[in-house]
Amino acid sequence: MVVTAGGTREPIDVVRFVGNRSSGKMGNALAAACLEAGARVALVTAAAPPPVHPRLTVTGVETAEEMRRAVWAELASADVLLMAAAVADYRPREAATRKLKKSSEGLTLDLVPTVDILASLRDHPRRGRVLVVGFAAETDDPLRNATAKLRDKGLDLIVLNDVSAPGVGMGADDNAVTVIDRDGVVLVVERMPKLEVARRIASAVSERLGARG
Ligand code: CTP
Repeated sequence: MVVTAGGTREPIDVVRFVGNRSSGKMGNALAAACLEAGARVALVTAAAPPPVHPRLTVTGVETAEEMRRAVWAELASADVLLMAAAVADYRPREAATRKLKKSSEGLTLDLVPTVDILASLRDHPRRGRVLVVGFAAETDDPLRNATAKLRDKGLDLIVLNDVSAPGVGMGADDNAVTVIDRDGVVLVVERMPKLEVARRIASAVSERLGARG
């Protein structure tokens, strides 16, 4: 299994970055749940890694492009991707190689889109042999938006996380999710600790994997 976690950081200069509020807790919980279930886990993370485990390898990354490269490499020998990372959607066009000095004139950042890692997998030679699970953080019209992401990114499953709901989502200790496939909702997990949510997602994924044979 390949699991991604954390929020990528896209450099502005040597000390500053464009990032997001992802803590990496959900990705780490997914890695823990998959290890509990007996899987070998390759965690690609932009956040603090979990405790060591004999069946866990960790690749630390910073940017979306580094995460893409690590995910592509790990998929050479994996059957599942759980893409829980919050990949930054934009990066500064140029990263300054020194610390930018403060100016009274303000600063305009020129941002360009990052690579969409999930969408890029359409071109991965092993795409047909990997169960690809995306995660959707939504605030508006969550079911419709998550279903559109599932289709647009060519995913097998998507885990919808309504980040406008109180006490769940980025940085929180609890989560509540809805798992969706091309035919609709397959699982609703009410608010509970992220490790419990992760166990339910892991078992839905392993069921799906079993059905594929
Ligand atoms: N994702 C990705 N590469 C990106 C952005 C997102 O692979 N550059 C993945 C995320 O890891 C997640 C899924 O796509 O599994 C959906 O991420 P989300 O942030 O909800 O969607 P976006 O595609 O970024 O769309 P938007 O921000 O407009 O909702």
